[in-house]
Amino acid sequence: MRIVFVASEANPWVKTGGLADVAAALPKALQKRGHDVALIMPRYDAKQILERAWPAGFGVQVPFDYRDQWSDVYFDESTGIPTFFIDAPQYFMRGKKSPYGEYDDGERFAYFCRAAVETMRVLGPAPDIVQCNDWMTGLVPAHIEVTYGDDPYWQGAGTLLTIHNLAFQGLFDPRDVPRFGFSPATYRTDGGFEFNGTASMLKAGLLASDMISTVSRKYAEEIQTPEFGFKMDGLLRARAKDLVGILNGVDYDDWDPRHDKHIAAPFSVDDMEGKRTCKMDLLSRFGLPWELDRPIYGMVSRLSDQKGIDLVAATATRLIEGGAYFIQLGSGSRQYEDMFQAMRDTYPTRVGTYRGYNDPLAHVIEAGADAFLMPSRFEPCGLNQIYSLRYGTVPIVRATGGLDDTITHFDRASRLGNGFKFYEYREDRLMETLYESLLTWQNQELWGDLRRNGMRDDFSWERSALQYEHLFAEILERVRG
Ligand code: ADP
Ligand code: GLC
Repeated sequence: MRIVFVASEANPWVKTGGLADVAAALPKALQKRGHDVALIMPRYDAKQILERAWPAGFGVQVPFDYRDQWSDVYFDESTGIPTFFIDAPQYFMRGKKSPYGEYDDGERFAYFCRAAVETMRVLGPAPDIVQCNDWMTGLVPAHIEVTYGDDPYWQGAGTLLTIHNLAFQGLFDPRDVPRFGFSPATYRTDGGFEFNGTASMLKAGLLASDMISTVSRKYAEEIQTPEFGFKMDGLLRARAKDLVGILNGVDYDDWDPRHDKHIAAPFSVDDMEGKRTCKMDLLSRFGLPWELDRPIYGMVSRLSDQKGIDLVAATATRLIEGGAYFIQLGSGSRQYEDMFQAMRDTYPTRVGTYRGYNDPLAHVIEAGADAFLMPSRFEPCGLNQIYSLRYGTVPIVRATGGLDDTITHFDRASRLGNGFKFYEYREDRLMETLYESLLTWQNQELWGDLRRNGMRDDFSWERSALQYEHLFAEILERVRG
């Protein structure tokens, strides 16, 4: 199949979260299965893109804001995946670290979507499948369905919108609907872009795409309920037949302690000696003393409400007083950043904190920590808990979304299970689970079994890529009959 993957971030170009990991690894896994896969993303002023991507030798005419605008297209395939970058400096070169958070995000990504659609046309015959990701690409299926509904070029193409996070919905001013190239009639409550008085690029995409997927089976169920649906649950229930959950995989080329270039020593389930070295390295980097019989609880995450930081805030002190180290990497909400700093000031020999984004350090924490905290309020898939498994770093998670699908609670009697899991979003529930983990740590033989269970799990992309392949076949069957 010819598959075009459209994304607003992808490794190694630009990354703010798991989407970038998926946008790099899934195309690679599909390509390995023999498909012809290309990626389209914006040309941001990020170092990697500026240094590695060169003019493709063509550009596209983009009908936008009542006129035709021109975008050059840049290209690189050193990652193995032919990648096309839409050049629109007015939108994507703002000298900022994050690709999002501008006052005109709606307009920026509306432009990107239209340009991506025009780029596919220049590239040759229409792809079999266009896979879009989150609200930033929601207008791609909308253009294919609405703008080009009668165009023979697009007739045989199937579209999939993958939801990585329903909390972000791409809301914009309804008055911009015509500027973005859609008739004002598309702004209506029933089957249109209207969403509680604003226009939503996510909703537009969810309505227009042939099928919808999300990144775990559990999250696919959860988003059909008011609790997790962010007001889109009605629409998702209506499309339940077209909605599937496919768990993300892990790119073990990047995340495996046997060959991780960022860590102090390699190790594996059969030879754990290196993990001790990694633990000492981690403690040193945070200026903490080497008390190796204390467990290190690590955390790497965006500091947002999604991630259950308030539960961590409420329990970390007792965890530390229970004997543990706590090491945290992340940035986001100022309030949480300050809180971790204060914790560090109170317990300078037990707490490590790094504010910011730092990929090598994320690997160092995965490798050196003994347990990994991820008590998310909701979690579409979550990648860090899966990385942790391979590094022998026991995940402590709340049973939601992909966390629930990947982690099973350790049972002392049968010695089955790969982590610790609690259900209700309550600090006493997390605290009980933390105590249980501390207790298990006291028994190193049990802990060893628990750790081995996780290290032997296999979440490589092959299985998920196969599921996507079946899904694509089903889409084509529907589209082409
Ligand atoms: P989300 O996409 O919701 O942030 P995921 O668990 O799917 O959550 O993916 C997060 C990804 O981003 C992981 O690869 C993780 O290592 C990385 N990450 C998050 N915060 C940081 C940070 N501060 N520094 C380095 N990597 C980070
Ligand atoms: C989102 C979700 C995360 C998921 C990632 C990749 O950022 O928050 O749970 O793993 O996308 O699909």
